[in-house]
Amino acid sequence: MGGTMESLISLVNRIQRACTVLGDYAAADTALPTLWESLPSVIVVGGQSSGKSSVLESIVGRDFLPRGSGIVTRRPLVLQLQKTDLGLQDYAEFLHMPNKRFTDFSMVRKEIQDETDRLTGKSKQISPVPIHLSIYSQNVVNLTLIDLPGLTKVAVEGQPESVVRDIENMVRSYVEKPNCIILAITPANQDIATSDAIKLAREVDPTGERTFGVLTKLDLMDKGTNALEVLEGRAYRLQHPWVGIVNRSQSDINKNVDMIAARWREHEFFARSTDYAHLSSKMGSEYLAKILSEYLESVIKARIPGISSLINRSIDELEAELNHLGRPVAIDAGAQLYAILELCRIFDRIFKEHLDGGRSGGDR
Ligand code: GDP
Ligand code: NA
Ligand code: MG
Repeated sequence: MGGTMESLISLVNRIQRACTVLGDYAAADTALPTLWESLPSVIVVGGQSSGKSSVLESIVGRDFLPRGSGIVTRRPLVLQLQKTDLGLQDYAEFLHMPNKRFTDFSMVRKEIQDETDRLTGKSKQISPVPIHLSIYSQNVVNLTLIDLPGLTKVAVEGQPESVVRDIENMVRSYVEKPNCIILAITPANQDIATSDAIKLAREVDPTGERTFGVLTKLDLMDKGTNALEVLEGRAYRLQHPWVGIVNRSQSDINKNVDMIAARWREHEFFARSTDYAHLSSKMGSEYLAKILSEYLESVIKARIPGISSLINRSIDELEAELNHLGRPVAIDAGAQLYAILELCRIFDRIFKEHLDGGRSGGDR
């Protein structure tokens, strides 16, 4: 991604975050909520234990998410990736702990678990209240990813009967937003015709233009069977190519197999497979991350003019709101509004420079 693109996206990310901190204070009748939603995000959807959290970790290239059999992800996790300058150490920050920088990613995993339990107790209950996490790294693209509880068919011990519908409604509320990119995860050892992810994706995105089909657990298929029907697009056609994935197994997780070793094994799996060798350059989590960021860049480029006019509306509204507020009222809220206003102005300036650069044919 070009430098200007990156700074624009990262600015919108910062504005999004500032708006989140501000919470409901930014009145719903301003452009800010729309601004918040104007950057596309990637939503990971699939049945329970289909490998959603594992795929997300692979895209980020770090180990930081709770994973495992059964219901592990019990609150939405809104994950903002922020690309940093070279030489900075990777770190993570939670919105609910603004003053703490995590550099040990196993502590990030623990905090996700603890923060989940704080709201739901150590039960199997789910909650629609998201956890917001930002990861700063030089190895990521500026992107918002959302991990969601898995779709289920039946409630388990400790869950209310309504849980099946509650999860489905929660997931639907995310994927029905037209600017979200759906990562529809289906395990290869399950019939594609019964895939919850594909069922929901088809409902909200019938033409398949914003759905990426991901087939996990290729290593767990019965001997003598393969997934070529799906991977070659014959079983269920989408506009984007299907990507096959081999994540870490539960025993790999127990043995602490790291990300690099896992990537290597995944690569070997495809390269050495008699079934998939001919597709091997288009398989695996690295390839998935690559096509996702390319698609994202094209979507964002198309959307910049719209975002820019929203920003201009926001600037006007923020100024009006601040004038109306006066200084003494709600100092914190006022400071947040000032911060957002400042970010909007920076965005506006960079965007105009970007446009000028484009007109003079300059490639920056
Ligand atoms: P989620 O519930 O959809 O978020 O799934 P998780 O990422 O938590 O994975 C559930 C379980 O399946 C874990 O024990 C993973 O190790 C295992 N798993 C996920 N993907 C694969 C895969 O591609 N191959 C194998 N063998 N196991 C996998
Ligand atoms: Na799971
Ligand atoms: Mg999960």
